[in-house]
Amino acid sequence: MLNPRLTDLPDYPFDRLRTLLDPIAPETNKPPIMLSVGEPKLPPPKFISEILGGRHDDWGKYPPIDGTPSFRRAVSEWLTRRYDLDAGSIDPDRHVLPVSGTREALYLVSALCVPPEKAGQRPAILMPNPFYHVYGGATAVAGAEPVYLPALAENGFMPDIDAVDPAILDRTALFYLCTPSNPQGTAAPIAVLKRAIELARRHDFVLVVDECYAEIYDRHPPAGGLQAAAELGQGLENLLVFHSLSKRSSAAGMRSGFVAGDPNLIKMFRRLRNYVGPQVALPALEASEALWRDEAHVDAVRAFYRRNFDIAEAAIAGRFGYYRPDGGFFLWLDVGDGERATAELWRKAALRVLPGAYIARPGADGVNPGSRYIRVALVNPPEQTEDAMERLAGVLG
Ligand SMILES: Cc1ncc(COP(=O)(O)O)c(C=O)c1O
Repeated sequence: MLNPRLTDLPDYPFDRLRTLLDPIAPETNKPPIMLSVGEPKLPPPKFISEILGGRHDDWGKYPPIDGTPSFRRAVSEWLTRRYDLDAGSIDPDRHVLPVSGTREALYLVSALCVPPEKAGQRPAILMPNPFYHVYGGATAVAGAEPVYLPALAENGFMPDIDAVDPAILDRTALFYLCTPSNPQGTAAPIAVLKRAIELARRHDFVLVVDECYAEIYDRHPPAGGLQAAAELGQGLENLLVFHSLSKRSSAAGMRSGFVAGDPNLIKMFRRLRNYVGPQVALPALEASEALWRDEAHVDAVRAFYRRNFDIAEAAIAGRFGYYRPDGGFFLWLDVGDGERATAELWRKAALRVLPGAYIARPGADGVNPGSRYIRVALVNPPEQTEDAMERLAGVLG
């Protein structure tokens, strides 16, 4: 009765985490600190409440699947500013589509572009390893073969697409590339993005660049897929970029993001999405528009995470393979055995982190590249982050 592609999926990482930690009672009276989920604890800017509360009648309306013209215009103007694109190069009507949080769209994009067969064979989907778990779910349910590109300390945590056999690229339908990456926070150099676009065009697959953390950076704004396409100067074919307000504006609960890129893909994605109906509510679109137009709150968001990294650095620099990532808000710490460390941190210090193995899969060599690691989300206020780092260093030595 059930779809075996779904039942064969491994448990969701946070369900696995509950299975690991539920039987363990912390031995400390200290309050638990949650560092497992990438949910910002900063509140979103107050001005959205006014917009959301002030559009009473709009809650009664079905929102259009492609949002409103003014939302799409705000996005196109933001993309143009952020990536220094030519004025008018992002057409709000042809290149932009709102999504109700990028998670659903990263999943649904596989229904957009994975055919039953590619080059007469089972289609492949490329993804970094470790990876944001949704890529794995989308691949499994689409019936595609996942091809994991190792993103390891040895290669600067950047998947090497040139290492993929061209025969695999020929049957590749989709490549998920995340920059800055979750979990390691590595920003893909623009040369890597350009190369991925070139290969997508040569082998006719869709390149999805997941830019969820594009605005959470330490020193330099990370390059983006649209910027790489502009430098190549051959249009936006085969490219889709995904952006979210969940991290940029700490508005994860509002479920608002967008996809931009190849006009043919956007057109067909709109068609597909009309059947599914994951619209963004009209008041949320209006609040989103205001957020994309405002940069002051994003400066404050970046300052918040920089401070948390300063705190982490002071506490654990030189240990557990600590490094300061280009972007994002995760520590990716080499603790030898991530699952054991996670259990110890919970038992001894009431710290909840995520074992790296839960967001990675064994590679061709049978080794899970996440198994030595824990992922630590630095999303809490500074005082709590300081407390957490002290407890972590105390337990892991
Ligand atoms: C890499 C990455 N992409 C996409 C998302 C989805 O974010 P949202 O659905 O809130 O836009 C997340 C959320 O944690 C993420 O870590």
